[in-house]
Amino acid sequence: MSENVLIELKGLTKRYGYGDTESFALKDFDLTIKRGEFIMIMGPSGCGKTTLLNIIGLLDRASRGEYILNGENVAGISARRQASLRAKKIGFIFQNFNLIEDLPVLENVALPLVYTGYPRTARLKNASTALKRFHLQEREYYLPYQLSGGQQQRVAIARAIVSDPEIILADEPTGNLDSRSSRIVMDELKAIHEEGNTIIMVTHNPALTVYATRVINMLDGHIDTDVKTVADQNLPQPISVKIKKKSDSSTEEELPKPHKRHKSRRKK
Ligand SMILES: Nc1ncnc2c1ncn2[C@@H]1O[C@H](COP(=O)(O)OP(=O)(O)O)[C@@H](O)[C@H]1O
Ligand SMILES: [Mg+2]
Repeated sequence: MSENVLIELKGLTKRYGYGDTESFALKDFDLTIKRGEFIMIMGPSGCGKTTLLNIIGLLDRASRGEYILNGENVAGISARRQASLRAKKIGFIFQNFNLIEDLPVLENVALPLVYTGYPRTARLKNASTALKRFHLQEREYYLPYQLSGGQQQRVAIARAIVSDPEIILADEPTGNLDSRSSRIVMDELKAIHEEGNTIIMVTHNPALTVYATRVINMLDGHIDTDVKTVADQNLPQPISVKIKKKSDSSTEEELPKPHKRHKSRRKK
């Protein structure tokens, strides 16, 4: 296996119901994803796009088949390990933003860091740095409803990248946005991709495929067409830690080392 392979799906099948009511959201789905790809997934409603994203994001499990992430088959691992992998490796962006309404923006962005073991002050500081990147730092203490849709989605993107994940999954992230806000959100995703991140995004909007390095059309739980518009060797090279790079020197310092719950400090 090439070391640039990030994800391999083999014979992935998601079945709902049994007997008469049996149906397949995904059927014998095979896909290999390399680091640095920006994949757009299109296809009619009900063809399995969200199911695919949720399985890749370890929010859902396949009925059968293999899901190999960084060389490890994660299809059958415990829910607890799934949650831990998800927190470290995967950032999600949803169509309806999925911000927690009664938490200020800053706390929303800091949420994924709860799983990292960082102390609260460090979590909030990192969240603040992420918000700065999206020019939302002055709105840290607003509640989500006080922001426009475009701003809420940028908060959601800040939340998705705050823990520096390898994979960003976005399910119709511009579906609820006007064209101007869509453009801003897409430009942010483009910048995140150019830093070497792998992005898998579902969209209904063919115009957005200009941002992609690969466009997959799905039909009835399988791949109908799969077109790479950028050759593998021209994909952006991964670089680590995006948030710090863009921040000014006052926030450049290292985070305190995370510590394990209950136990002594972990060495890095
Ligand atoms: N919890 C569920 N129970 C039964 N069928 C489901 C469930 N979730 C999704 N499906 C079915 O799986 C298929 C794929 O759904 P989905 O992945 O949401 O499609 P898409 O995102 O492409 O619109 C659809 O036919 C849908 O009805
Ligand atoms: Mg969907």
